[in-house]
Order: sequence, then structure tokens, then C-alpha cells
Amino acid sequence: MNLAQLLTCVPRLVIAGRWWLYWFAEPPSAPYLDSVESSLKIPITLHVNGTSHEIFVDPHWTLAYVLRDVLSLTGTKVACGTGDCGCCTVIADGRAILSCITLAAAAQGMRIETIENLSSGLESLHPIQAAFVETGAAQCGFCIPGMIMNMKAFIDEKPTCTDDDLRRALGGNICRCTGYTKQVEALIKVRNSFSKKRRNRHS
Ligand code: FES
Ligand code: FES
Repeated sequence: MNLAQLLTCVPRLVIAGRWWLYWFAEPPSAPYLDSVESSLKIPITLHVNGTSHEIFVDPHWTLAYVLRDVLSLTGTKVACGTGDCGCCTVIADGRAILSCITLAAAAQGMRIETIENLSSGLESLHPIQAAFVETGAAQCGFCIPGMIMNMKAFIDEKPTCTDDDLRRALGGNICRCTGYTKQVEALIKVRNSFSKKRRNRHS
């Protein structure tokens, strides 16, 4: 075979090589895929309900996703997922935040509190939870964890708030079942009992 004939074979050899790879080459092994996936993840430490969790997260994972699907804290609910309904509210460093639009990586270093931290059972309900039960403020209950966390942060920060302050603060939590009357009633009760305790402490 002369050089010219050899060169005409080259394209055929390339095509044959590609077919061989297509049919017979081993697919990438699972460890290889694992390493590709984990190379995209970043290590973070999340402080949730008094416990530190060292985990790997994708940079785009939201705090709501990590709380529910990684840490199994499913008390935090997700409805709109776009920061409009308040269902996913948790407390970070004492302030209410929307966990569906907060990146988990951005929550690093904050003290996160979820609804699971408020009580360990029916006998030890937080006063807001107890008042919601007493007044019948929950119907389907889906919006309630977010509502309670939002209002806990609000009353903790502003214990001398007025009734109208409470109504306004509740405005970020959408409830499709109730008319809000019972929830406002429950919150006024809690605010009054906190004020009474404070007065008694100072008298
Ligand atoms: S689920 Fe986060 S605001 Fe609606
Ligand atoms: S109690 Fe059902 S959405 Fe609020």
C-alpha cells in the first residue's frame, strides 16, 4: 500500500474507531459520576435548633430544601416557593426570613430556628401554639408553622405592639382557609399575657 492509499483509509479508520467506542467502550463508572457531582457541592455548617450540621450542598439549594429534604425538618412548609406566601418562614438570628428564597449557603453562621424547636409535644406548646389551639385558629394547618414563626419573631422583637401592629405583621402570611379573625384573637391573647408577665416582673 502506498502513501496515497494509506491516507484515504484514515477517515474510515476514524469512523470505525468512533463506532467501536460507541458500542464497546465502558460507560463512565459510578465513582466518576459521584466525583463530578460532589465537586459541584460546597461544605457548609448550618446551626439549626441548637445543633450544628456539617453538610455538602449545591450552591443553588434553598434553605427550605435543606431543612426539609436534607435535615428532615418537615415542619417548615413550602407553598409558593417564590417568597409570596410566608409558609416557609423560619427564624434566623431572631428575625423572620423566607426559607424558600434564602440560599442554604447564605444561611451559614446564622442561628436558624424552625417550628420543631418551639415544643416537644402537646404538653409543652409555645404560648402562640397554645393560643392557636385554644381559639381554633388553624384549619388545614398548612400555613400555620410559617405564621407562628413569623409572629414569634415579631412579638419577641416588639412585645408592646398594638393590635394593628399584629394585624399588619400577619399580612405576609397567606391563609386560604381562615378569615384571620381567630389568629388575630390568639395573637392578642399572647401579647396580653406577655405584657401581664412583664408588668408583674417589674412591680
Ligand atoms: S413558600 Fe416561601 S414564601 Fe411561599
Ligand atoms: S389554615 Fe389552611 S391555609 Fe391556613
